[in-house]
Amino acid sequence: MKKVLLVVGIRPNFMKGAPLFRELKKTRGIKPILVHTGQHYDYKMSKSFFKALDLPDPDYNLDARSGTHSEQTAKIMLKIEKVFQKERPDMVVLFGDGNTTLAAALAAKKMHFLTAHVEAGLRSFDEEMPEEINRRLTDNISDLLFTPSVDGNKNLKKEGVNSNKILMVGNIMIDSLMEGLKTVTKKEKKILNDYKLTKKSYGLLTLHRPSNVDDKGKLKKIVNGLELVSKRLPLVLPLHPRTKKNLEMYRIKIKGNITITKPLGYIEFVTLMKNARFVLTDSGGIQEETTYLNVPCLTLRDNTERPVTITHGTNKLTNPGNMLKDVDRVLKRKQTVRKNIPLWDGKTAKRISKVFANKLV
Ligand code: UD1
Repeated sequence: MKKVLLVVGIRPNFMKGAPLFRELKKTRGIKPILVHTGQHYDYKMSKSFFKALDLPDPDYNLDARSGTHSEQTAKIMLKIEKVFQKERPDMVVLFGDGNTTLAAALAAKKMHFLTAHVEAGLRSFDEEMPEEINRRLTDNISDLLFTPSVDGNKNLKKEGVNSNKILMVGNIMIDSLMEGLKTVTKKEKKILNDYKLTKKSYGLLTLHRPSNVDDKGKLKKIVNGLELVSKRLPLVLPLHPRTKKNLEMYRIKIKGNITITKPLGYIEFVTLMKNARFVLTDSGGIQEETTYLNVPCLTLRDNTERPVTITHGTNKLTNPGNMLKDVDRVLKRKQTVRKNIPLWDGKTAKRISKVFANKLV
């Protein structure tokens, strides 16, 4: 049996790892091994997603937790090196752009293991984002680069990457989303009731980027902007632990018509996203999920590594000063029907598994 070791660690990794783990389980000659670095560890940020996505308990949980970037990266490297030594994997799979991704890529390559990066080629060209450094370095040293869209291929080619390494397989997050939507259909009435929401009558917020929440002045500006937006429509804000911690530290109170909740489970969040009038976010994955769901998205950032969501027409960049104006525009706009982005079709995990089967078995 060939061992394919999947490394996950942060909330958005779980949606990307789950469909591939399932698919590899069904693939003859391949044994998937699941490693959770434990970068995210709260029940609501981790375990609840394993349940919702039907992922078994990981074979290894490294319990690396928080720290500065160097501490966190180093802790993960030290711990995962031992797993690599023991398992001697035939392939190590990395997802996305967190510290988990880069730490595992470095440790694996230094031990001469093959690595594959799922969600390769995305670039924001903003070196102040930790994720941009993680993505670039992970792509640079990985052996197989699975891209979600054509811009990924273009970026990698521009960086001089050998085209043999690049494979456009589509967006694996959409695999989980399509699967999750089946459950959402059954539960959405109750979930909306629980939050006292009706379809398309509220805005959904998420906020966690260091560039938005680590600086007191910036966070205050955003909160003020959100309070204004909440005069148009009620807002719901599931609070990320980083943001919660900073709001408390800076003693910033959120007023206005904004319901604050704990981080939501996957099915709950997808339900709220699907039925929102708009989503205002600084997340990466949510820009893609709203694109698939055809829900207007305003991204509270100066740039995005997912430009396809903007050219597609669902997403727009915004800032605290323009937020209200942008929301007003969205509210006036009529919903248009849009085609799906090629290969965002729920079959990405299948395509990746096929590549591994051909290469390894
Ligand atoms: C990480 C990723 C980011 C991703 C985000 C999704 C990096 C560099 N960043 O950012 O790309 O978009 O996850 O959520 O890898 N905390 C808890 N409980 C948890 C996890 C975190 O309380 O389960 C708190 C800790 O105080 C920690 C802080 O949140 O210091 C930040 O967590 P961390 O994993 O460092 O980064 P994220 O902001 O979550």
